[in-house]
Amino acid sequence: MSEVALEVKQQGNVVYARHHSVAQNEKLALLAGLKRPQKTISPKYFYDTRGSELFEQITLEPEYYPTRTERSILNDNAEEIAGYCGVDSVLIEPGSGSSEKVRLILDELRPKAYVPMDIAGEFLHRSALSLSQEFPWLDIHAVCADFSSLNVPPKNIPTGNRVVFYPGSTLGNMTPNEAVQFLTKMRDWIALDSLSEQGGVLIGVDLHKSTERLNAAYNDKSGLTEQFNLNMLSNINNLFDGDFRENNFDHLAYYNEDHRRIEMHLVSKADHVVRLDDTHIEFSAGETIHTENSYKYTLASFAELASGSGLEVIKSWVDDENLFSVHYLVAK
Ligand code: AVJ
Repeated sequence: MSEVALEVKQQGNVVYARHHSVAQNEKLALLAGLKRPQKTISPKYFYDTRGSELFEQITLEPEYYPTRTERSILNDNAEEIAGYCGVDSVLIEPGSGSSEKVRLILDELRPKAYVPMDIAGEFLHRSALSLSQEFPWLDIHAVCADFSSLNVPPKNIPTGNRVVFYPGSTLGNMTPNEAVQFLTKMRDWIALDSLSEQGGVLIGVDLHKSTERLNAAYNDKSGLTEQFNLNMLSNINNLFDGDFRENNFDHLAYYNEDHRRIEMHLVSKADHVVRLDDTHIEFSAGETIHTENSYKYTLASFAELASGSGLEVIKSWVDDENLFSVHYLVAK
């Protein structure tokens, strides 16, 4: 990850800086995943422009409860949440996507600056500009970066009381070990700014529930999750000059009760060979590419995870049905 921006644009109150470009080591990591006995591709490859749009549509599906539930939690508790975040906050959102959720708390929070970060640069830039139209007073510093490989906070952002906003249960994509590493990094980010007297992490976490309900959420009847899963292959083709064919794969999503996670896979329909630039990858019929984990927590298991990251849950908000949770964490 480069520390110097590759591209900077400014329009009104929006600064957009792109730090991300597809690097050689990303290709090596991708190929390494495809050479393992259980082939894997990182879920970050879901999110090209079309994938980001498909995800937005998934969030409106009747079966997909997380987004609307989290929205109602943020909306119903915005004032209290703002109290925890404090004044003059610099609100940093890794994986901000369409920046839909932050809208629910901005009027109460009135942050000094908002720093949305996303890997899909064009989508990020568009979202930042439209957010700026709705909140003309807001100072926006959009950073196009792959936050999974970003070890220091983005450069050239305003100083202040840093609050990391991490809604949507994006943390669920990580294994518990990776989640601890990530939260530890966020703890460092909030503590790094000397002006950041308190700082905190405002995070949304999906909760453990019945297998039926979980399976339905990742197998919506309209098939948007299926399209979202398959679209990853087209994104890979574009980024790495590949010849994956969506038609050669089926969508598979199920709750793995032992690991308390949804697993998404792409199942090869037949024996076939895929080319990625100058590498050939063999698939046998029924073999899968593991494309996503989405871990589910209980209030207790999440508090324990946070604690292992040097953070303390000082407040949790949940909905009436206990479907989803939002937490405010501070450094221990
Ligand atoms: C954006 C990672 C929270 O795990 O529910 C939605 C992604 N995958 N449907 C999730 C997703 C399939 C989503 N996260």
